[in-house]
This record gives sequence, structure tokens and C-alpha cells, in this order.
Amino acid sequence: MKFLLFIFAGVHLLPLNSGKATYRHDNSQRTFQEIKDEIAHYGDVAKAIINLAVYGKAQNRSYERLALLVDTVGPRLSGSKSLEKAIQIMYQNLKEDGLENVHLEPVKIPHWERGEESAMMLEPRMHKMAILGLGSSIGTPPEGITAEVLLVTSFNELQRRASEARGKIVVYNQPYTNYSRTVQYRVKGAVEAAKVGALASLIRSVASFSIYSPHTGVQEYQDGVPKIPTACITVEDAEMMSRMVSRGSRIIIQLKMGAKNYPDANSFNTVAEIVGSKYPDQVNISKYSLVMESDLGTFIPSGLQFTGSEKARAIIKEVMSLLQPINVTQVFSAGEGTDINFWIQAGVPGASLLDDLYKYFSFHHSNGDTMTVMDPKQMNIAAALWTVVSYVVADMEEMLPRS
Ligand SMILES: *[C@@H]1O[C@H](CO)[C@@H](O)[C@H](O)[C@H]1NC(C)=O
Ligand SMILES: *[C@@H]1O[C@H](CO)[C@@H](O)[C@H](O)[C@H]1NC(C)=O
Ligand SMILES: *[C@@H]1O[C@H](CO)[C@@H](O)[C@H](O)[C@H]1NC(C)=O
Ligand SMILES: *[C@@H]1O[C@H](CO)[C@@H](O)[C@H](O)[C@H]1NC(C)=O
Repeated sequence: MKFLLFIFAGVHLLPLNSGKATYRHDNSQRTFQEIKDEIAHYGDVAKAIINLAVYGKAQNRSYERLALLVDTVGPRLSGSKSLEKAIQIMYQNLKEDGLENVHLEPVKIPHWERGEESAMMLEPRMHKMAILGLGSSIGTPPEGITAEVLLVTSFNELQRRASEARGKIVVYNQPYTNYSRTVQYRVKGAVEAAKVGALASLIRSVASFSIYSPHTGVQEYQDGVPKIPTACITVEDAEMMSRMVSRGSRIIIQLKMGAKNYPDANSFNTVAEIVGSKYPDQVNISKYSLVMESDLGTFIPSGLQFTGSEKARAIIKEVMSLLQPINVTQVFSAGEGTDINFWIQAGVPGASLLDDLYKYFSFHHSNGDTMTVMDPKQMNIAAALWTVVSYVVADMEEMLPRS
């Protein structure tokens, strides 16, 4: 492999292909049969990678390296010192592995700090609630926000009861249907509550299962709508408050959040998600053949989701056929992922790992998301897929054709 740029975003690993001298964008002169033959020649390389990652010396290596990051530096939010430390560790690992052109790029990134946070139910009984502030939320004043709760189960109910919301803490107790649907409450809950005059909002965690675990994630403010502090609470507390309300109890909560935003941020020396996520304008995207992300875990994969031209899709299908020995050859639609969408929108073909999510939303974005949920054997398969695809795409004569 001549040029391969690994980009790290938290636990994400995005192998990207940077330009090699012989790269051409326009492969229209070659027939598809010629491209197919070229890919078939990588059969032995693919087998060697699979043997190494799944059965050989590199067995469990991705698990062990992830464990090193998780155990040594802990959570690695964008722009944090911990992410910086994690990037330094990966940088050393890649250099020690003998990869060429391993380098760090300085970037600027907006940065959010959680700070100390707590929520205490004062009425109808004293009860310390588990919370996690939502990413980008503002903090409360130091003395906190103490207010009565307005509990709703949907945005529609909030609209119907808009006149009751002023000066309250809106608590959303929306049922979990599926992630894409239910996550709207986490993302937009604060804005909708602020529009009707609430002081803060608390959102029932978007989770398929709970053992009293808050599940955090990003939320978005809207221009022209007051910013109010917002956090997630547990499924258990949301349901308890719902029962309290139905018995006629008045609920009072004191919410304290020390969260802070640093919008223009410090400049950290990172090889970054930033490149992948927020600032594709800071790099020359025409040098990149493919952008890949595994945003939804690294469990046993069934294949890749891909977004790109039909011709590029046909090529990716050929590349994936090299994974026949581990039976992970499928190519699905919709390669979009949180950290690569900006690239895809800019025209770069994108791929996401499609893996087994049956237990994912029981620990997603919670303090339970630890190495304990990971399975080294499943990671070996995912690593083999990742490595074969990035190796072959990076090494092929021509870049993936764009639309
Ligand atoms: C890899 O992990 C599996 C599952 O924990 C274990 O059975 C196996 O012995 C490990 N292999 C190596 C080489 O450590
Ligand atoms: C999620 O659930 C809603 C209904 O609650 C449904 O309309 C939507 O199609 C579901 N989405 C997925 C991805 O299953
Ligand atoms: C971007 O990369 C392409 C392909 O390597 C190159 O032809 C072009 O000159 C580069 N553009 C800039 C602004 O560096
Ligand atoms: C290979 O994968 C396909 C699709 O996921 C599955 O239906 C089939 O049972 C698998 N075959 C083997 C031998 O595991």
C-alpha cells in the first residue's frame, strides 16, 4: 500500500485513500472487465489479510488497541485533551507498524465540556436522579434551575399544553420505537421546549433497554430560539415521573449543569475526525477515493452500506467479493454516517459498516458503553473487512469513479 491516511474520531477509524501519483479520476477508458480482473488479482492479498486478522498474528489486535485507548485515556470527546492523548497513541502505533506517511494535521474544532452536573428531585420526594448533559447544551447558573416539571409524551402534547410550559422544566417521556424516530426528542427537545417558554428540558434516554442508565448524545439549538440547558434522564425516572403525575403529584426538580461551549476552539494537533466530519473544506477532497466510517459499532458485520455512483458501487461489490472466505460480501445502500456525510455531500464515495445492532441501543452513549460490550472475535471480522477494502481501494490503479 502506497498511501493510506487513517483518521481517528473517538473510537471511529476512517481509513482514507490519499492521492497516489498515478491516480486518475476518469477511468472511462477501461472496461469493467479490466477493473474486475484487476480486483481479482488481490485475491491472495485479501486471503493474507483475513488470515492475519482473523486467525493469525493480528488476531484480537483491534480489540487490544481499542482497550488500550479506552483504559488509558477514557472518553475522547472532540477537541478534548483525552482525544489528543488518544491520537498520540494511535500515531505511535501506526509509525511502529511501519506505515508510510503517518502524520498529524493541525485543525480547529468546536469543543464542548460537560462539567459537573446533577439533578435532584425535591418534590414529591427527595431523589437524586442520574443524568447526562446533552452535547452542546449550555450550563445552568451555578445555583441551578429549580422549577416545576411539565411532563409530556410527544411534541404534539407539548403543543397542546404550550400555555402550561412557561417557567417549567419540560420532561419528555416519549416511548422508544426505533432510534431514528425517537432520537428527534433528544436532538430537538430543548428547542421545542424553549419555544414555549420552558427553562430547561430533560429527555428520557433514547434506549431500547435500561438498567438506570442515562444515554446522552448531541442536541441542536436553533437560531432565534433561546438556548436552555438540556440533559437526558433514565427510562426509569421518566416512567416514575409519569406515574407521579398521573397520581396528581407536583414534581419539582433542581438541575445543575456546568457545561461549557468553546465554539472557536483551541487548535489541537489532530489527525482528525474534523477532516472527516466538519471541515472537508480544509482538505483537498479530490485526492480521496473513499471515505469509510463505522458509526454504529464494530460487531459481526453483514457487509458495507455504500453511497456513490453506480459504477463505483459495481467496483465495491467486486472488492467485497474478496471477503468470501469470511462470508461478508454484501453491499447495501445508504453509506451515510455522522462523520462522513459532509464528504459524501461533497461527492466522495462513502461506506459504512453494516453490523449486528441487536444489543447496541441498550448501551449506546451511556456509561455502559465499555470494552465489556465488545467481542474480540467479532472485531477481527470487522477489521478484516475494513483492511481488505481500504487496502484494495487505495492500491488500485484508479480512484473510484464519482457521479
Ligand atoms: C482472542 O480472543 C478470543 C476471545 O476472547 C480468545 O479466545 C483467543 O484466545 C484470543 N486470541 C489470542 C491470540 O489472544
Ligand atoms: C421507526 O418507527 C416509525 C413509527 O414509529 C416508522 O414510521 C419508521 O418507518 C421507523 N423507521 C425505521 C428505520 O424502522
Ligand atoms: C487537489 O488534488 C488534485 C488531485 O491530486 C490535484 O489535481 C489538484 O491540483 C489539487 N488541488 C489543490 C487546490 O491543491
Ligand atoms: C453467509 O452469509 C449469508 C448472508 O448473511 C447467510 O445467509 C449465510 O448463511 C452465510 N453462510 C455461511 C456458510 O455462514
